Amino acid sequence: MLKNFTLILLIVLFILTSQLIAQAIPVEGKKMLISAPSPYAVEAGKKIIKKGGNVVDVATVVGLTLAVTNPYFAAFGGGGFAMVKVGNNPVDVLDFRETAPLKTHPQYYLDKKPEASQNGGTAVAVPGVAAGIYELHKKYGKLSWKELFSEPIQLAEDGFNVSGEWTARTEISVSRFNPKGAQHFLKNQKAYQAGELLKQKPLSSFLKMYKRQGPKAFYTGPVANDIVKTVKDTGGDLSLQDLNDYKVRWLKPLTHNFKGYVVYLMPPPSSGGVVLKTALSLIDQLKLENLESMSVDELHLMGEILNRSFRGRALLGDPDFHENPLEKLLSKNYIGDMAKSINLTKAKQLKPLSDKNLNESNETTHYSILDDQGNSVSITVTLNGNYGSAVVSEKFGIALNNEMDDFTTHPGEANMYGLVQGKGNYVQARKRPLSSMSPTLVEKDGKVILSLGAPGGPTIISGVLQVIYNSLVRNMDIDRAIQSPRVHHQFLPNVLYIDEWRLQPATKKGLLTKGHVLEEKAFIGRVNAVRLKNNGALEAAFDSRGEGAVGGY
Ligand code: DON
Repeated sequence: MLKNFTLILLIVLFILTSQLIAQAIPVEGKKMLISAPSPYAVEAGKKIIKKGGNVVDVATVVGLTLAVTNPYFAAFGGGGFAMVKVGNNPVDVLDFRETAPLKTHPQYYLDKKPEASQNGGTAVAVPGVAAGIYELHKKYGKLSWKELFSEPIQLAEDGFNVSGEWTARTEISVSRFNPKGAQHFLKNQKAYQAGELLKQKPLSSFLKMYKRQGPKAFYTGPVANDIVKTVKDTGGDLSLQDLNDYKVRWLKPLTHNFKGYVVYLMPPPSSGGVVLKTALSLIDQLKLENLESMSVDELHLMGEILNRSFRGRALLGDPDFHENPLEKLLSKNYIGDMAKSINLTKAKQLKPLSDKNLNESNETTHYSILDDQGNSVSITVTLNGNYGSAVVSEKFGIALNNEMDDFTTHPGEANMYGLVQGKGNYVQARKRPLSSMSPTLVEKDGKVILSLGAPGGPTIISGVLQVIYNSLVRNMDIDRAIQSPRVHHQFLPNVLYIDEWRLQPATKKGLLTKGHVLEEKAFIGRVNAVRLKNNGALEAAFDSRGEGAVGGY
């Protein structure tokens, strides 16, 4: 009897894992494709495509599903950005990033423990996911809101088999969780093991309320009370008023003409667009395409380009609170000076830009959906760190972000991504912290042909840049464009990060000879992307640097 049971269990596990492995192959399609970090989300999305949903309906169900299956980076306690193109509407940007609670201010962290912006209630900013998903669907969705909930509710209520990544990410958070919140993700004080069934009944009851009432179900009533109480019990200052007052905002993308394409980029409060626009200009000016692909020279210049492009990041902040010097940073003069400062033989470090005269006024994920008509949604969401602050709301099991660490909490000191940030990003009540998240769309002849983005803190920008470059300049198919080795430089520290294991010893030696300080990194962004090819077929791939799935029709 026991033997039979073990055999059945083994067969079930084999089928499950072989399905996951099968999903790792990039796919082609004719109608609409999804690239996302979980096969459950892709399967849920496929059902909505079959029902006649548009890209936004699909993005909605993908987002709701990820909040159930991938809470460490996609829970309702996080925030994000969406870039969307539907029909004849211009490309639109939705900012549902978290905001600083009313009680916080520029000196808030100075008298607290060093990790106060990373762990516990003091790290939690007002979440934006529940408002963001709803607003995006309200403006651009086609199917009714209520039609999109059956899959996510079922996965929360009846359970889903946790993945290897789920277990690994949960295991490393066990000691950080607040004990009352931890019960939602642990069994006998331990993380569920890969393949085990996790049911989240309290989360499913939130989803049912959210289905009926929209974001009110999150920002008022029992869920809001649960969040406020949990944050208070873990030392934070988030109030009911903070939640009641949360608002998303629509922004206009930055644009950049690049080799016959129009690239739509994230404006502040993301630094992604400014850095990417600078980098794409420098790629053009330095004529990178004349070098051999993946050669020492090309990787060296890519590193120097990123270094110069990140230099201006420290001057940026939330545009509602800070005057961003975009004219200066994106001027021909400044970018021309940056191009002149780069030299093919030797790496060079410039002085930081001063922000003295400016007016004061990680964990993440990405999913992209693109159809054959060039309609697309590109969404990056985050809790910042793995399970964010590791504070999980006691009753409903909602993991809460530690996005406060993205602010300049201690001037002159690096944050958890090694970023040294400026005055424009000081903590202020209701302000959004500066981000690197870069959901991006690329258009050709008026049609979106590439939809991409990534997690990875500042390495997001480098990942997105190199996939755009590989795809548009080096004409790689989307899978190769994603899997190819890449580099990252963020100006400070003066280190050229290289993909762990992916570069030849001779290439590393060549980069060292040019004067780079090298450090290997487990991942430089984990890109999810869908591309519409010249022949009208769609292709989707996800990054082998992490879990993911692709699918569609
Ligand atoms: O907004 C940002 O730039 C960061 N909070 C993103 C963090 C992140 O990508 C972590 N992912 N691995």
